[in-house]
Amino acid sequence: MRKVYLDNAATTYVSSEVLAEMLPCFNTIYGNANSLHGFGREAANIVDRARDRIAHAINANKSNEIYFTSGGSEADNWAIKGIAHAYANKGKHIITSAIEHHAVLDACKQLEKEGFEVTYLPVNSYGLINLADLIHSIKKTTTLISIMTVNNEVGTIQNIKAIAKTAHEYGVIFHTDAVQAIGAVKIDVQDMEIDAMSMSAHKIYGPKGCGALYLKNGIRIDNLIAGGSQERAKRGGTTDVPAVAGFGKAVEIAVRDLSINQQKLKAIRTYFIDKVTERIPYVQVNGHPHQKINGTVNMSFEMIEGESIMMLLDLDGVAVSTASACTSQALEPSHVLRAMGIPDEIAQGSIRFSFGKNTTKSDIDYVVDVLEKAVNKLRSISPITKAGRK
Ligand SMILES: Cc1ncc(COP(=O)(O)O)c(C=O)c1O
Repeated sequence: MRKVYLDNAATTYVSSEVLAEMLPCFNTIYGNANSLHGFGREAANIVDRARDRIAHAINANKSNEIYFTSGGSEADNWAIKGIAHAYANKGKHIITSAIEHHAVLDACKQLEKEGFEVTYLPVNSYGLINLADLIHSIKKTTTLISIMTVNNEVGTIQNIKAIAKTAHEYGVIFHTDAVQAIGAVKIDVQDMEIDAMSMSAHKIYGPKGCGALYLKNGIRIDNLIAGGSQERAKRGGTTDVPAVAGFGKAVEIAVRDLSINQQKLKAIRTYFIDKVTERIPYVQVNGHPHQKINGTVNMSFEMIEGESIMMLLDLDGVAVSTASACTSQALEPSHVLRAMGIPDEIAQGSIRFSFGKNTTKSDIDYVVDVLEKAVNKLRSISPITKAGRK
């Protein structure tokens, strides 16, 4: 059976260039990067190079502003809780958006339990926050604003530079979750005035379980993980040298190949949307029509459920994802689509297709064939019709 992977926003394979960078670190350069002997220094050099590569790719002022973590979730949790705690004597108010990844939202929820106040900004139907809403929500006690650069479900790109500038005009620290942005949009932390930024390796052809927090020198943060002196004594734990080596290479490649990859993805995206909308009626594309990344397309198929489409596609070897969380009671529509004002019955029929650098037009032809078949089959047995319930 043919297999097509259109879930690259969930994770990607490790590219051969990245793997080649990692392999010697498993059994040749295997020292502990914290050890003071030659084996350790060799490993430390690998880690330093990865840090330099990432710093360079995002235009950080200094390499020591990059702190390795176990992934995007840890970086988000650390940034939110660590900065909130470090500045708690100044104030206990944080601003974020309703469409953040759960790593940010749940970290905020934990802070609320500790007595912090959190404002969750609404978004418009494209998934964009409004600058006036942001300004109105800033208080004397606000210490941190965290708004994601690119949304993982619909691909909408926020106006990060303007948001960060606004935060600074009010003396507030600005963090962004850029997990879905690296390799998709140009990131320059100095130009964009970003104080803290979360990144992850496994969305950009790097290994799973590795990420980083960019933290501008001078911004205070409490430790999330206590322990050894690693990461400037801010994040204890023996450094995963192979993963860090791979991550450094993955970021370097993602930034090096950004425009060529985006051109290819744009062509694939257009081809896909044209084919689907030509062949399948009652479909809507969610997210911003232009201010979005090319790799992610979120579509709602009316009158049927996303989970069922996903399962039928899976039987035909096609991997996609749906954002709805299957709870014991009911299918909960995605918090992102809900915040964008998409009615639950439409949101429930939504699927995220995320393309990768290897996705071909022939893959798309196959996916559209099996998608059309799946949608027709499900609609034929759906109790709901355009005219109402059957
Ligand atoms: C926007 C966003 N933030 C954070 C994460 C979490 O990253 P990780 O899987 O590296 O923990 C993801 C992963 O899906 C994401 O898409």
